[in-house]
Amino acid sequence: ATIVAIDGPVASGKSSLARKVAKRLGFAHIDTGAMYRCVTFEAMRRQIPLTDADTLTTLAHSLDIRYIDSHDGEQNRVLLNGEDVSEIIRTPEVSRNTSPVADVPTVRHELVRLQRQLALRGRCVLDGRDIGTVVVPEAHWKFYVVASLDERVQRRLLQYQSEGHAVDVEKLRADIIERDRRDRARTHGALRLAPNATILDTTDISLEEAVEMVAALVEQAL
Ligand code: DC
Repeated sequence: ATIVAIDGPVASGKSSLARKVAKRLGFAHIDTGAMYRCVTFEAMRRQIPLTDADTLTTLAHSLDIRYIDSHDGEQNRVLLNGEDVSEIIRTPEVSRNTSPVADVPTVRHELVRLQRQLALRGRCVLDGRDIGTVVVPEAHWKFYVVASLDERVQRRLLQYQSEGHAVDVEKLRADIIERDRRDRARTHGALRLAPNATILDTTDISLEEAVEMVAALVEQAL
């Protein structure tokens, strides 16, 4: 009862929600998308072709990925072999390249194993695509976060602009649609609603309201 699983499409707000719920409950936050991003970033840096499944899998197995939760719940850091990669793994280019890497079943197998290990320590909030269905199907709390496409494009646009990335809105919209399509189509770990998950539509509610709803439910039960 101490594992909270949060899944949802691109830019639905699941990561911010997971981070803030974790902070509020005093749980660890495990951002599983960051793991797929780390493998992709490292592969790009080492010029490993993103179609080379074997080398990508060996890479996924060898990386040391750690999370450092900040005290204010705002600036959680991701360390890749000790290096702070929190910003660089979120560039539009890494985002685009992560989709095909996340399609590779053997890469998923490696990362899911690591995610389960971390999750089973308990008192944690995980966010991703397949948390409630594959990573920890036994999680007591499962949320499926959605928001309209317009709202998701707007949120990602604001995020990229605040980070100083130049973005074309139409390209961003096409990227989000394409990444969602791939997330739903993959053979292993596809994005889908777990049978017992609660759907949370964040289109018209603030992040704080969403945090309140999720955290209150879990707190009541604890
Ligand atoms: O949540 P995010 O945007 O940081 O995820 C980055 C990519 O990794 C995205 O293409 C979906 C994929 N992903 C996945 O396949 N399974 C997860 N549990 C988390 C992310």
